[in-house]
Amino acid sequence: MKSLGEFVIEKQHEYPEAKGSLSGILSAIRLAAKRLHRDINRAGLTSDILGEAGQENVQGEAQKKLDVLANNIMKRALNARDDIAGFASEEEDEIIAFDTERGRNAKYVILTDPLDGSSNIDVNVSVGTIFSIYRRISPIGSLVTEEDFLQPGKNQIAAGYVVYGSSTMLVYTTGNGVNGFTYDPSLGTFFLSHGNLTIPNDGKIYSVNEGGYQKFPQGVKKYIKYCQEQVPEEGRPFTSRYIGSLVADFHRNMLKGGIYMYPQASSYPNGKLRLNYECNPMAFLAEQAGGLATDGERRILDIVPEKLHQRSPFFCGSKKMVEKVMSYIQEEK
Ligand code: AHG
Ligand code: MN
Ligand code: MN
Repeated sequence: MKSLGEFVIEKQHEYPEAKGSLSGILSAIRLAAKRLHRDINRAGLTSDILGEAGQENVQGEAQKKLDVLANNIMKRALNARDDIAGFASEEEDEIIAFDTERGRNAKYVILTDPLDGSSNIDVNVSVGTIFSIYRRISPIGSLVTEEDFLQPGKNQIAAGYVVYGSSTMLVYTTGNGVNGFTYDPSLGTFFLSHGNLTIPNDGKIYSVNEGGYQKFPQGVKKYIKYCQEQVPEEGRPFTSRYIGSLVADFHRNMLKGGIYMYPQASSYPNGKLRLNYECNPMAFLAEQAGGLATDGERRILDIVPEKLHQRSPFFCGSKKMVEKVMSYIQEEK
């Protein structure tokens, strides 16, 4: 049984430049994940976790108490590392420069969705945490700028998620494949359980909130009909599975093969998911596992972000399924 800490040290040679820094950053995320695991698993027993926080984030979404708690846990854990120059989060209006007093010798910035799937927390369904790590562009020792956080996803040096499901798992990539670690709460340790994860090239699961169907682009509607068609020799109709937590839906599709879709919809003309801290890290993981991620036209990782909280349509998962939906989208343009 190999622990996450042992694994990270063993793999340090794969990223010589980032070496100690990346190990330190990952251990901060690991610590935050353990705290969140503890709090999420006690959610019904205390009044400060379930329910609304009574305020909105900059995107106009009502924050849950756990959104705020998760954000604070991540911010505190990351701020404690000298390697991290700045932080951006779904729950923060602006980027945050860590330690504005003394110049840190910090090369990295982190973006996070501290609590993904927060509508599921009150009903005891899986939620997650997503993180994305970039090398800063601004000079070391200065304050971070927005430019450091608005890099295309292909510049990520690491990304991953924690899924708080029937067990808690941490899954990450540093650009050399994807590895998954299962948490043993009795020991307080993540152990390597899913080495070298790959997404099946093709799959039979499609995940989409079909409530938005009427306003989906024509190509996406056609693809959904294709998924539902009776063609037993090709394994169709496919199975529909939608949890409503990107992390959990992605995780299932990675293990079993499938496609996750959040297209343009009536209340979300650009899709709902945020490019910088939802789509990009998942796209990096998907590609590293042999899958694909697109906004319907472009590779997600090639998009140059313009705004911190920018949204993007998102189609991600098994290579053949993503290619298929893209071909329908292109045909209907
Ligand atoms: P968050 O809780 O971080 O705001 O993210 C929720 C996202 C994503 O996790 C999920 O797949 C999607 O929103 C669900 O949206 P719908 O309820 O519109 O399907
Ligand atoms: Mn989210
Ligand atoms: Mn969130």
